[in-house]
Amino acid sequence: MLFGKRGNSVTIAMFLIAATVSCTSEKKVDPSTISTKRAKPLGPALQLPSPPLGLPAVPVPADNPVTPETVALGRKLFYDKRLSLNDSISCSSCHNPNLHFTDRLAHSIGVGGKTGVRNAPTLLNAAYDPSQFWDGRAPSLEEQVGGPMANSIEMNQPHEVTVAKLNADPKVRREFQEAFGPGDVTLGKIEQAIASFERTLVSGDSPFDQYEYGGNRKALSPAAIRGLKVFEDPKKGNCASCHLIDAHYALFTDGLFHNIGVGVDDQGNLRDMGRYSETKRNADKGAFKTPSLRNVALTPPYMHDGSLKTLKDVVDYYAGHGNSNPNLDPAISAITLSGQDRQDLIAFLESLSSPAAPPNSGPPAT
Ligand code: HEC
Ligand code: HEC
Repeated sequence: MLFGKRGNSVTIAMFLIAATVSCTSEKKVDPSTISTKRAKPLGPALQLPSPPLGLPAVPVPADNPVTPETVALGRKLFYDKRLSLNDSISCSSCHNPNLHFTDRLAHSIGVGGKTGVRNAPTLLNAAYDPSQFWDGRAPSLEEQVGGPMANSIEMNQPHEVTVAKLNADPKVRREFQEAFGPGDVTLGKIEQAIASFERTLVSGDSPFDQYEYGGNRKALSPAAIRGLKVFEDPKKGNCASCHLIDAHYALFTDGLFHNIGVGVDDQGNLRDMGRYSETKRNADKGAFKTPSLRNVALTPPYMHDGSLKTLKDVVDYYAGHGNSNPNLDPAISAITLSGQDRQDLIAFLESLSSPAAPPNSGPPAT
């Protein structure tokens, strides 16, 4: 109501009522609070615990060192419904810790039951990705945060309303000041805190990691070991050419964008332009970010549009060389899989599940 057109007497009257109710009303329209300028977190940076087996150190940007206070604040904000219209949903509504930070839906449900066209990726290990979203339109975790907050089919709340709500809560203001020093809650600080929390959501030490990097030759079944070979063999699955396995760790992604033929209709037309909407390069039409495959057995359905329900569907999809379209990545047409290979691949993909949730990742005690 504070943002109604001036000159409307009802709006002005409501403004006056609001102003007398809360002495912080003046701040509600302060444009500096919706600035994304980086603030300097207070105190010494947190030494992130050494990453689980099979993962490298988490990259941290120089202008947002991870501190215990920013992580704790980010965790609270991640579960705070005030970040949405009518306090109805939080980040965790679609990235649910009990569902490995996904929602198990093909298309997520936003405020008021609105649905989008893309599948919510897990946030486990998103900290390693060089860009965020299926089309990579956010260059960092920080720059990703504001997207769903304001998106009309997600949290659907203007940033000025979000910062005003948080600034009006003295406890939250104090937590921001403990994390960033004196001053108002700003969009930039919200982004920094949530991003720092997300940098703690790492998940490794799966049976595959114990086999590949931990020297435990018994950690994988014979079928999963055969599946790993199929996964890496350029003449069979050729999966590892995009879902990378390095000598000392495995992210299962190249961080790049490929058209593997998902989301092509019967006429051969793309339903979603993917990376093209960012780059306007023809070659990027229908290309999406290679997702990590860690915990993949726990996070169905699959692909950017959630169109494949099971790992068997995915493997059968690859065996059939995807849907043909002008930009189909040549690596997909070259895949050759026998019936046995397909079964073994599924056993391998199932070995990428990590046992435990990252520590301190669930809803915080209030
Ligand atoms: C209504 C459901 C919904 C809500 C609420 C939501 N997200 Fe998402 N999230 C999605 C969907 C769907 C995508 C994929 C969208 C795309 O790629 O265009 C996504 C993508 C992401 C990604 C990119 C992951 C990757 O691998 O590329 C991150 C990070 C993320 N969300 C964090 C958040 C944070 C932080 C919040 C709260 C501020 C949030 N999300 C709120 C549904 C949601
Ligand atoms: C040319 C690069 C490339 C190759 C080769 C490749 N993938 Fe993928 N993979 C991708 C991309 C890109 C996506 C997302 C595509 C989309 O959503 O449109 C994906 C998605 C997936 C998914 C779904 C993950 C999720 O969370 O939704 C699985 C599972 C998968 N790939 C497994 C495999 C297996 C198994 C192979 C080998 C048989 C393979 N991939 C070969 C690039 C590749």
